[in-house]
Amino acid sequence: MTPSPITPAELEILSTKATAAKATAYCPYSKFRVGACILTEQGEYITGANVENASFPVGTCAERVAFGTAVVSGHKDFKALAVATDIKPPASPCGMCRQFIREFTTPSFPVYMYDVDGNYVVKTMEELLPDSFGPDNLPPSS
Ligand code: THU
Repeated sequence: MTPSPITPAELEILSTKATAAKATAYCPYSKFRVGACILTEQGEYITGANVENASFPVGTCAERVAFGTAVVSGHKDFKALAVATDIKPPASPCGMCRQFIREFTTPSFPVYMYDVDGNYVVKTMEELLPDSFGPDNLPPSS
């Protein structure tokens, strides 16, 4: 399903919430704050931030926290994702997050990436993860 277009008002809220979510990051090791916010097709906003761990590889990115929260809350249809960091140019989702997001989105799903000044770059999932592997590639018995 193609996500419905995001309105300017929705994008404003999405960016504000993603930027505010940076303050909830637990990142004592990297000190690299990442905030994320998803807009669902039902008009709900679900945030996440990175959560690190003393055993470094155990830490989780903001995007996966946000999508995990959304999915266990019963959401299935998503309109857009915003990710905010304190750097510029803006950071884009890591490879593991791209695959994680791909599970729940379509190729045209937009990912808005905000830099420290509030400027953004937007790319679709198809651009971020071309030739991807997803649920439809598994045989029915899996
Ligand atoms: N991080 C994210 O939260 N999202 C990304 O897409 C890239 C990296 C986090 C992981 C770690 O807590 C910190 O940023 C530094 O890598």
